[in-house]
Amino acid sequence: MKLLITVGPTREPIDPVRFLSNRSSGKMGFALAEAAAARGHRVTLISGPVALQTPKAVRVVRVVTAAEMLTAVKLQLKKCDALIMAAAVADWTPARIAKRKMKKGGAQRLTLVLKPTADILKTIAPLKGKKIFVGFAAETHNVTAEAKRKLREKNLDLIIANDVTAPGAGFEIETNRVTIIDAWSTEELPLLSKRAVAEHILARVENRWRAGANQ
Ligand code: PMT
Repeated sequence: MKLLITVGPTREPIDPVRFLSNRSSGKMGFALAEAAAARGHRVTLISGPVALQTPKAVRVVRVVTAAEMLTAVKLQLKKCDALIMAAAVADWTPARIAKRKMKKGGAQRLTLVLKPTADILKTIAPLKGKKIFVGFAAETHNVTAEAKRKLREKNLDLIIANDVTAPGAGFEIETNRVTIIDAWSTEELPLLSKRAVAEHILARVENRWRAGANQ
């Protein structure tokens, strides 16, 4: 398969020296890319700013903001059979970017006005066709219900529910504990290395791909 994987955080600039971002290290997405390449797939990564070495045999497109990630996904989508959105894309971006460094100037309070970013998965949903779309849901509560809502609203084949408050799961660490959900089933995985989680997800995507090819 030709796989497109998004990974890492995005950064939304506030002024020339500051940005809004989140705790994604890129480890989950890079584990997916490494495992996919080792399983013989052709992999393109669209990566937000991360401090990880590019896996062998993987093409990387670097982006910074959510808007840049959307543009890159649209551009690369035509060439892929499956998309896995592991990136923690910012939901909000500053309504105005200050041209110069914002100074304290004795102020006791600073209010930032934010506007929503475009939802990448919702924007590209009309381009899905026979491609397999996989999302992640990073949640702190009502994890399964929220993941099922996102599966429906984002028109996904699979969603990986990620309780980012569970011990050993979520941001920055080497392990993860996820539940793989589709329209028919809910598969809870035990605590595993991110590489092992990646292998499970890829096996499910490959099954879907084979089933689609036989239709
Ligand atoms: O990078 P690590 O440190 O290894 O951490 C891994 C992880 C916790 C970041 C990863 O496992 C994970 O859960 N990634 C998804 C994080 C996320 O943004 O979840 P969400 O529930 O906010 O978004 C749902 C889905 O919509 C995601 O597939 C996301 O990529 C996508 N999305 C979100 C916002 C947006 N504007 N456009 C999108 O397409």
